[in-house]
Amino acid sequence: MQIKSAEFVMSNSDVAKCPKSMLPEYAFIGRSNVGKSSLINMLTGRKSLAKTSGRPGKTQLINHFLINKNWHLVDLPGYGYARVSKTAKKTFQKFITQYFALREQLVTAFVLVDIRHQPQTIDLEFMQWLGENGIPFSIIFTKADKLKPNASIRHVEDYKNVLLETWEAMPNYFITSSSKDIGKEEVLNYIDELNRNMDLISN
Ligand code: GTP
Ligand code: MG
Repeated sequence: MQIKSAEFVMSNSDVAKCPKSMLPEYAFIGRSNVGKSSLINMLTGRKSLAKTSGRPGKTQLINHFLINKNWHLVDLPGYGYARVSKTAKKTFQKFITQYFALREQLVTAFVLVDIRHQPQTIDLEFMQWLGENGIPFSIIFTKADKLKPNASIRHVEDYKNVLLETWEAMPNYFITSSSKDIGKEEVLNYIDELNRNMDLISN
């Protein structure tokens, strides 16, 4: 899929104030600093559409971006960032869970995990929560440029083995690097396919 346009629409801390249109949308979620905002920039080919930072906790709101005038990408705050206050953490968690629980336009979530790390409890619990709430998701492994290809494959295999202890099948997944443009076509084609399926349903 070609990205012809990508525009920032709005930032919100309240899911009720998010865009009212029923355009299909795709949200990026995962630990702080995993590379959600960078991935949005890589996919859209716009270097600073979403704000990124080396310091965790950069994205603090629900950010909507309109792509090709007919679907939304959503950048969310990360979870699991230890240095924010307890009150701030609770507020984040509340609007992140409300976003997923209430946003009917969400077609699928992308849960980002750093390809270098072993499965983390917080990510596994979040995927479990999505599953229990009937919210479809795919996994996006990020920062693949930090490992040799063989090591990437091995880490993904390890991840699969852990997931298969509780899941019947490995969720759909992608291996990406925002700094090396890896996985761009795969993720965009997948979204394109889902968008087309949505068209079939609504026509
Ligand atoms: P929060 O908004 O704080 O939750 O973080 P985020 O998940 O949006 O992460 P962000 O995109 O801001 O990236 C965090 C850091 O990781 C930045 O220093 C990025 O440059 C770096 N980073 C992101 N993606 C990649 C990648 O694919 N490869 C490498 N090497 N670094 C990356
Ligand atoms: Mg961010």
